[in-house]
Amino acid sequence: MTSSAQTLTRRHMLSGAAGLAALGAGWIGAPRVASARQADNLARVDALIARMTIQEKAGQLNLLADPFRFRPQNVNPLDGQGDPARVTQMIREGTVGNLFNGIGADAGRRIQTIAVEESRLGIPLLFAADIIHGLKTVFPVPLAEAAAFDPDLAQRTARAAAVEGAASAVHQTYAPMVDVARDQRWGRVVEGAGEDVWLNEVLSAARVRGFQGERGLADRDALLATPKHFAAYSAAIAGMDYNTTDMSEATLRGVFLPPFKAAFEAGALSVMSGFNALNGVPVTGNPWLLTDILRDEWGFAGFVVSDYTSENELIAHGFAADGRDAARIALLAGVDMSMVSGLYLEHIPDLVAKGDVPLARVDQAVRRVLMTKAALGLFDNPYRGCDPRRERAVVGSKAHHDLAREAGVKSIVLLKNEGALLPLKPSGQKIALIGPFGDDVDNIFGPWTIWGDESRRVSLEAGFRAAMADAGDLVVVKGSEVEAELAGGIEAAVLAAGQADVVVLAIGESTRMSGEAQSRTEIDIPAPQRALAEAVAATGKPVVVLLRNGRALELAGPVKDAPAIVVTWFLGSEMGHAVADVVFGKVSPSGRLPVSFPHRSGQSPYSYDHRITGRPADNSLATQEYVARYRETTNTALYPFGHGLTYGAVTYGAVTPSETSLAWDGSVELSVSVTNTGDRAVEETVQLYIHDRVASLVQPGRRLRDVRKVTLAAGETKAAVFTLRRSQLEFIGGDGRPTVEPGVFNVWLTSSAQAGTPVTVRLAPPA
Ligand code: BGC
Repeated sequence: MTSSAQTLTRRHMLSGAAGLAALGAGWIGAPRVASARQADNLARVDALIARMTIQEKAGQLNLLADPFRFRPQNVNPLDGQGDPARVTQMIREGTVGNLFNGIGADAGRRIQTIAVEESRLGIPLLFAADIIHGLKTVFPVPLAEAAAFDPDLAQRTARAAAVEGAASAVHQTYAPMVDVARDQRWGRVVEGAGEDVWLNEVLSAARVRGFQGERGLADRDALLATPKHFAAYSAAIAGMDYNTTDMSEATLRGVFLPPFKAAFEAGALSVMSGFNALNGVPVTGNPWLLTDILRDEWGFAGFVVSDYTSENELIAHGFAADGRDAARIALLAGVDMSMVSGLYLEHIPDLVAKGDVPLARVDQAVRRVLMTKAALGLFDNPYRGCDPRRERAVVGSKAHHDLAREAGVKSIVLLKNEGALLPLKPSGQKIALIGPFGDDVDNIFGPWTIWGDESRRVSLEAGFRAAMADAGDLVVVKGSEVEAELAGGIEAAVLAAGQADVVVLAIGESTRMSGEAQSRTEIDIPAPQRALAEAVAATGKPVVVLLRNGRALELAGPVKDAPAIVVTWFLGSEMGHAVADVVFGKVSPSGRLPVSFPHRSGQSPYSYDHRITGRPADNSLATQEYVARYRETTNTALYPFGHGLTYGAVTYGAVTPSETSLAWDGSVELSVSVTNTGDRAVEETVQLYIHDRVASLVQPGRRLRDVRKVTLAAGETKAAVFTLRRSQLEFIGGDGRPTVEPGVFNVWLTSSAQAGTPVTVRLAPPA
């Protein structure tokens, strides 16, 4: 990263005219317009900018928490936040242009009226919100939904969330989170698509398309998408949220940036800068990321919003001397809108007056924000989303709840099913549902739901009762709290287990155990629940474990040894119904792990696509010495990325390539036959992995490059066919650029990152 790092340091050190000269001629280039409508918008926006005072300009770059419709706790006592009277005054004065985390059509109209009718220029407010996995109707957490390996599903749930949000007077969502998450200790794994780059790219694009819709941002159902947290936020060292990050340019560009690029290619017009420092430079003050890469390389035309006070945190980082310096650095780096800190409003006028930030840079940021407001149609219809009748009609609709159930079912992953213990019978089998999540409704939405409809949460117990013929066949016993013992709990659980034919043990993490700032040192099941599992297993009754989790978990003892294990994550509003659909066999499980379940917490960070070493272990030999392994375990996964069983079994035939040589600009077809040997319909997710055998940079053992979903009736065989091209063999080289080198590649068409036998394909050099 030498040259870019030098540029970065130079820019940071210099201020005033010298700093600007170092930024290069193209830095404040003319905005690009791609259509007549955009040209009209630009003319309108520039006419407005010409009339704005510097305070009004700073106001358009100022984003505050909505004190009218939502009163967040822990608001930073900056700029009278949380005080409706003060913020009303600011809207009138034009010193706040954007509010976030308030919803509601009626109140939205009242607030917008202040901006449109009572401020000097009548510029409409932009309303943003963290609509991460649903508004009132809550869909599975993004990590769970990633397990469906289904971009169409991700697009549809994002669409439904957008329809509900847009009808509640919201214009922008702070989603999707597209941070590739390789350390399961990091709590925010739950908010994204897991450890794999390709899956993150595909789902990032799908979610952006879903939020923004296909009829343009001015459509009444569109929400502006905001991929976050740019960039490498998830690479926090040791998985501790907010921690610093350090990595090579090849890793940054090969792993952490591609899902952002995919989001922008899908049309995302805003992006959030993260809290973290990257190689010593906080990303919110990082011109190399926010300008060189984002603008100059990728041509991103939308606006950059800081994460919650992240520009203010440049001071705590020791990267800025004070608030004024922090505002200057963030603005010059490329942050257009300041979230919550109030620093832009406070310091922009003086920074410009003293020549520390050029007016042209402020105008550029304002233009980006106003162009986005124009793209959202706010100048023509500032009251979009302010119709309470539409809000009532679409929010929490039956169609959305049906979709939540479908998404829930598709997100469930069957890890193990010895002796075909599952599915359970809906009648004639006595079931003891044991564990802290049996009748619980507080831990089914998962993290990042602010407005979920709590009156419509379906517990496991409710789902089971609805699916079972005789409610008398079910007993529900808590046994333990999530993180504490429950007096008499184990005794009651053992008694219930003893009287049942089968135990369903619902254990794992609470909502509060994953999400922002919820990093863990061990990714295990809390001790009181492990004790409960021991006691229940000791009864000798067959146990089905239902895991509740926002990350991969370390499984041990009787949990690991249970005959059946199902990953049920946090599935949202319809959780109980979705789990019952799978547990009682109405639908065969089809989900696949988007994160590897390692043997031990201490393997973290672990991802299947770690680079190989000079001392690779033969993992079949338990006693190997002086190879890359631990004393306690091989460096593999207990349940690998991509793993997921169904009812019955799917078998794979041999992989047959159409040719063994791939021409430089050609393609090779690869096919494998998959057979459903079971007696019910299933869906198989066939995964294409590659490995470059000899390359100029050490390669991962495997990389996922494509996936095919195959639906198979009982007994049916079908071929899964893939086309392999040179682009899929590309990697980011040591110089940070995409590269592809002729030579031999291993290719797998298989069922998980640890399954299958490769065939080889040779990439020929250019003719
Ligand atoms: C989170 C963001 C979120 C923002 C606004 C921050 O603490 O990191 O993901 O969008 O708050 O709520």
